[in-house]
Amino acid sequence: PPVSLIGAPTDIGAGHRGASLGPEALRIAGLAEALAGRGVDVRDCGNLAGPANPWLPPDAGYRHLEQVVAWNGALMEASLRELRAGRMPVMLGGDHCLAIGSITAVARHCRETGKKLRVLWLDAHADFNTSEVTPSGNVHGMPVACLCGLGPEALTRLGGDAPALLPQEIRQIGIRSVDPEEKRLVKQHRLDIYDMRYIDEVGMKRVMAQALDGVDADTHLHVSFDVDFLDPGIAPGVGTTVPGGPNYREAQLVMEMIADTGRMGSLDIVELNPVLDDHNITAELAVDLVESLFGKSTLMRD
Ligand code: ARG
Ligand code: MN
Ligand code: MN
Ligand code: MN
Repeated sequence: PPVSLIGAPTDIGAGHRGASLGPEALRIAGLAEALAGRGVDVRDCGNLAGPANPWLPPDAGYRHLEQVVAWNGALMEASLRELRAGRMPVMLGGDHCLAIGSITAVARHCRETGKKLRVLWLDAHADFNTSEVTPSGNVHGMPVACLCGLGPEALTRLGGDAPALLPQEIRQIGIRSVDPEEKRLVKQHRLDIYDMRYIDEVGMKRVMAQALDGVDADTHLHVSFDVDFLDPGIAPGVGTTVPGGPNYREAQLVMEMIADTGRMGSLDIVELNPVLDDHNITAELAVDLVESLFGKSTLMRD
């Protein structure tokens, strides 16, 4: 389908400033041109507008909740508009709190069209904290919990009904940093997590086959790509690096196997922080991987 790039230049959910520059870094790395070069009909919708980052300490367990709600509301409306027009929204973040808005829109669209939903969450983190257990108050550590109905009503009911998403609809890949209480919550809610230990033992090919099992012609596949999923050795431009992530080849395989399904209907690219990057190499790597998500292949037998 045709693609709509939606910039969401904010870092209100993060613990470091700079993810607000992510959309421009991705543009400068040539994202639109790379997709157009693959024959994709791509439109850059520009950036959404929203409140500035007040940079305050947590209030009742949340930092900047009011601003998080405003940005996610705007993003939800914009994503839903593109989905209803038959286009594929590609959200250029911004920090990962924005997945609340993008995925709430996708879940609504799936309900409207009778499609099944599968979310692939590529991340070093489970992002399943709540205000009671968060070590930071940063809402980018909470979007999966909010989508599953755990969180403030202003976020869990962004699309009307809560929860937007069932834990069974999510597969998390690359996880290697989960806070102690967050781990308890993740187990309680039976989240399907392919952590790095599992990836090491089983191999990325089988992990992806399992994570994509059941994805069929009636499935809308949403990919939420937190750039800190990647090993920091190849992707230093993020605020919350965790050692021991997927290497270049493993990451390419993830993207190519997603592309092979032909079912990707929406995408988030989040947590890219150009302030912490080295000459935009992380943005350039993200663009390279997104090209693979859209079918660029190193295979000789295709
Ligand atoms: N678990 C930590 C927290 O809740 C880090 C979350 C990082 N999340 C992210 N989207 N980078 O503060
Ligand atoms: Mn559709
Ligand atoms: Mn994340
Ligand atoms: Mn992360």
